[in-house]
Amino acid sequence: MTTLVIGGAGYIGSHVVRLLLDKGERVIVVDDLSTGFRSRTEGAELLELDVTLPDAVEKLAFALRSSGADSVIHFAAHKQVGESVENPEMYWHDNVGGLANVLAACASADVRDVVFSSSAAVYGVPDVDLVTEDLAPQPINPYGATKYVGEWMLADAERAHDMRTVALRYFNVAGAGWPELADTQVMNLVPIILNALEKGRTPTVFGDDYDTPDGTCIRDYVHVLDLAHAHIAALDYLRGEERPHRVFNVGTGEGSSVLEVIDAVARVKGIDITPEIGPRRAGDPARLICSGDRIAQHLGWKSEHGLEDIVRSAVEARAQAVDPS
Ligand code: WQD
Repeated sequence: MTTLVIGGAGYIGSHVVRLLLDKGERVIVVDDLSTGFRSRTEGAELLELDVTLPDAVEKLAFALRSSGADSVIHFAAHKQVGESVENPEMYWHDNVGGLANVLAACASADVRDVVFSSSAAVYGVPDVDLVTEDLAPQPINPYGATKYVGEWMLADAERAHDMRTVALRYFNVAGAGWPELADTQVMNLVPIILNALEKGRTPTVFGDDYDTPDGTCIRDYVHVLDLAHAHIAALDYLRGEERPHRVFNVGTGEGSSVLEVIDAVARVKGIDITPEIGPRRAGDPARLICSGDRIAQHLGWKSEHGLEDIVRSAVEARAQAVDPS
């Protein structure tokens, strides 16, 4: 099989590329290398392209036809909540416009199978213990809104062009399947903690007065390798006969608080960490834990790594960090 992986030079995309190559599949990575690295695409063909540009539809359609691609996995998007609030236009143009170009190219090249990188951010701040896909999305920032709009676009493409699509709503992704594919951006809790410690600084907890056992926010941390396997399972699901659902949460069903994550880092590194307690961060829900029932039942996927594995893989990757190119 041949798969076009758009954003495949990025943190999550490159893990999926690695798994597809390990399966003996042909992979064409499409990436503008604005945040991804060429080194992460080793073994795949690379088409350096910004899919948000006007001529991207024609170039993508040509790549799909000439490669005989069977499916597309679309990762390429901006993903910073705060940035999306400050610069919504960029998120609408790039996240939504880029996906529109990808779907237009798939329709033109008659490629039917599309897996889309969505996010738990579509849910906003749900007040439930476990988030299921039946919960009505209520995104509270432009980033989450672009992901929810993306899911609508997939549904429209299914109806218009008989496409088969899956949107995966990622919960909190962390860790590294291979050290060289580690997340090099310092935008989420685990890399922020590790980066602070490397710089001799103390991590800051954004609020300890939430209605949770230790007062800090709880999230569902999923190992990036487990998440990558969910994409492989999604491709297999699309090639099956029965496809009752198009949207799947991807998480572990287990929650970890900020303090529990910090404690896990301290255990793995064999150090003591006494974090600073700072003010709450606007927009943070107290807890966001996913129900993994639907993906387990229909894709046969469950996470295999817990918080300790996630943290250990991230710590080991940082210890081996080389300057990616
Ligand atoms: C996790 C928890 C913070 C840093 C975001 C996006 C979401 C998804 C995952 C893409 C929160 C707390 C953090 C720090 C802290 N991305 N924290 N001190 O906000 O749950 O989700 O990333 O799909 O869409 O919204 O992840 O890693 O930013 O924060 O206390 O220095 O850690 O308040 O409770 P978040 P995060």
